Amino acid sequence: MSRHVWSDPAGFVRDPQSAAEVLRVLDLPRLDTYHEAVARASGLDLSALHRLSRNTLVAMTGDDHLRTRRVIAPFFSRAGLAPWRDAVEQASHAAAETLATAPKPDLVRDFSAPLFLRTMPAILGLDLPQDAAHFDAVETVQRLTEPYLSVPALRALDSAVRQLLPTCPPPGSDADGNEEGPQSLLAYLRMRQADLPAWLEPEYFVLGILAGSNSATQSLSFALHGLLTGPAEDWAAAAAPGWAGTAPQRLLGLYQSTRTLVRVASEPATAGGCPYAAGQTAVVDIVDANSCLRARSGNPAAHMTFGSGPHKCPGAFLSEQVFETAIPVLARRFPDLTLEPERCRFVLTPMMQAPTALPCTPRQVSQRRSARLCDIRDMPSAKRILRDDAVFAPPPMERHLALLADKSGRDFGTAIRIARNAMFFMEGPRHTALRAALARDFDAAMLARWMPRIDAAIARALDALAQAAKPDLVTGFSDPLRPEAVRAVLGIHIEDPERFEALAPGLQEVLEPWLSLRDLTRVQGCFADALSLMRDPVPGDGPRPLLTSLLADPPEGFTPDDLRAVVLVLYGASFNLSHTLANIALWLLSRPAEERRQASDPAWMDAHLEALIARGSGPKYIYRQVRADLRLGDLDLKAGDTARLVVHGLNRACPAGAGHVSFGKGLHRCVGARLSREIIRKAIPALFTRFPGLAPVGQAQRYHPMSQTVALSALPCALTS
Ligand code: HEM
Ligand code: HEM
Repeated sequence: MSRHVWSDPAGFVRDPQSAAEVLRVLDLPRLDTYHEAVARASGLDLSALHRLSRNTLVAMTGDDHLRTRRVIAPFFSRAGLAPWRDAVEQASHAAAETLATAPKPDLVRDFSAPLFLRTMPAILGLDLPQDAAHFDAVETVQRLTEPYLSVPALRALDSAVRQLLPTCPPPGSDADGNEEGPQSLLAYLRMRQADLPAWLEPEYFVLGILAGSNSATQSLSFALHGLLTGPAEDWAAAAAPGWAGTAPQRLLGLYQSTRTLVRVASEPATAGGCPYAAGQTAVVDIVDANSCLRARSGNPAAHMTFGSGPHKCPGAFLSEQVFETAIPVLARRFPDLTLEPERCRFVLTPMMQAPTALPCTPRQVSQRRSARLCDIRDMPSAKRILRDDAVFAPPPMERHLALLADKSGRDFGTAIRIARNAMFFMEGPRHTALRAALARDFDAAMLARWMPRIDAAIARALDALAQAAKPDLVTGFSDPLRPEAVRAVLGIHIEDPERFEALAPGLQEVLEPWLSLRDLTRVQGCFADALSLMRDPVPGDGPRPLLTSLLADPPEGFTPDDLRAVVLVLYGASFNLSHTLANIALWLLSRPAEERRQASDPAWMDAHLEALIARGSGPKYIYRQVRADLRLGDLDLKAGDTARLVVHGLNRACPAGAGHVSFGKGLHRCVGARLSREIIRKAIPALFTRFPGLAPVGQAQRYHPMSQTVALSALPCALTS
């Protein structure tokens, strides 16, 4: 077996029938012989690892394997596990409590891991202390099946085995069945030792099963990620009676931690219609095989997540039991739980994928965060704030900057000009005049005139994407679309476009209220440089851009320089279009293949546009300053407080996106909303029509570290599959 078994994804076995045959006919790679060879070559003492490895089911073959599987089959059957159901339920409630009281709640650390520690060791018969160190040791031992581990990794594995071994109670102790409660696997094996191969050591065997059982924890976390990034209705359904019917199977088929399984031909063989020479490897792609199974059978819950053939997972029923029990417990206790998608982290190897961090907000309750800041998460309060401009004003940025300039003695002239012309911070007659001018010039008719050019920009972006060696929907689609489409509409003509675009991301920072002095100086420099590169549009044969219209008929109180600043701020704000478009693309890519294909249909897109924008909003917050003491819901607000509306938390309560706040509401609602809706409405179906097999590359997306925005920096994809 070579290290490059995964280097040719085109050769992976995807057809479910062929996959099942490969898994049945060919053999598992002999990792124990690799470990032995490393131990010999390096002189390391890997004896604990070696003993564990030879006692695992994956290393067993022939009769020994069959005998052992027969012995454990009744224990892991649905009926055999029934006595453990209450324990799993209680552990789920206890884990939910851990999440509820965690200072920085994370579904992996504060739910899945505690659930694992409370259930698996008890079922298997181990006295495992419920702490992070022992959980880490289990995760280390789980790496046992990874091929070609480095020497330090093998050494860590060996010491993790030594750390876990003492958690096996000696024969004859309480855990062997004298205690109340269902019998554990270890006790059961000791009872049936005569039926097992004579050389088998139950303690090491059980440790191997414990390591394997962590797949259930990983798949549970992955399924929670899938459910919580999906439609809110799916989470509500998990709390409703009857959910445990087919829904867990559906999740197991979509969010399994296994990506590929490897087999090797010990001797020449034929499997799935393909001949294999001795030593040749086969890689089974479980993700694609599952999607193919669903498509062919028409059964959305069909899957082969647990493998097939003699080594098929013995933990399938146990995993189902965990899913059936734990997910409804969580969904009932936290009906409006939200994830922070940009802070979720995954481990991704060719063999597996699983979340390592799922930071979340368990409850959407408006609350005070500090002496001056309140988070608003309930819609009635949010609506009141957005509509009552007398009490909830935009951050008084201009005044703040003037005071800062006074105090620091620095020149914030440019920053003040920008703040004066950034609509987010404006109020009163100048704001009204500018909004009226934009309503006049930035309307549906103007957009209709630009649409052919926007369509052409979308087509060019797709052409470029098709040519990309490593296609990426951020760098190759949502990012390039913005300058192409938006700059022309706004009338931003640039002398040095490359330099301008290098500066442009900095323009977004103007939206961050209360920047530090240093950041302010930097943002001001960025705006000054960008302004210096801008040239007024010259009349051409195309539609009239916004800046031309504004300069020709300026709103009251705006000089030509003000208007150039207005338009540059608009361009900074338009980054939200790229971010939202990319977030929507990721969301669609994360859906099952059969659902994601619907996005090529413009009618489907029209029907789902608002739900997608609600879900994909780039901006995380909308800010207002409170001008009078008042009580809002359960909150006492004081004059001078900042109210921070949490966009994603609020949108979670908007079925099908109805009434979402992605574009804000009221006097300051987004002026780019119409343009953004139109571009998203066109770009997404165009993308999925051009690449019908568009698929994600594992969980390989990356985010910019931006505190105010959910902004993808990379979204690698495969254009065909
Ligand atoms: C959703 C969670 C799980 C998934 C996705 C999963 C997946 C798999 C797959 C695909 C295999 C076959 C490997 C191959 O053929 O190369 C397997 C084998 C295995 N699984 Fe699981 N598993 C899960 C949960 C569990 C649990 C809870 C346990 C322990 C109770 C467990 C213990 C094992 C063992 C011991 C094997 C090796 C079986 C053999 O070689 O005969 N797994 N698992
Ligand atoms: C999908 C993409 C977009 C999203 C999610 C978005 C989001 C928002 C939100 C939430 C607000 C309200 C802020 C508040 O009330 O304080 C807003 C305002 C605004 N947006 Fe957008 N925006 C997007 C695209 C654009 C584009 C393309 C432009 C420019 C062409 C733009 C320009 C503006 C401006 C100037 C305001 C301030 C309006 C005012 O205060 O009167 N936005 N946007």
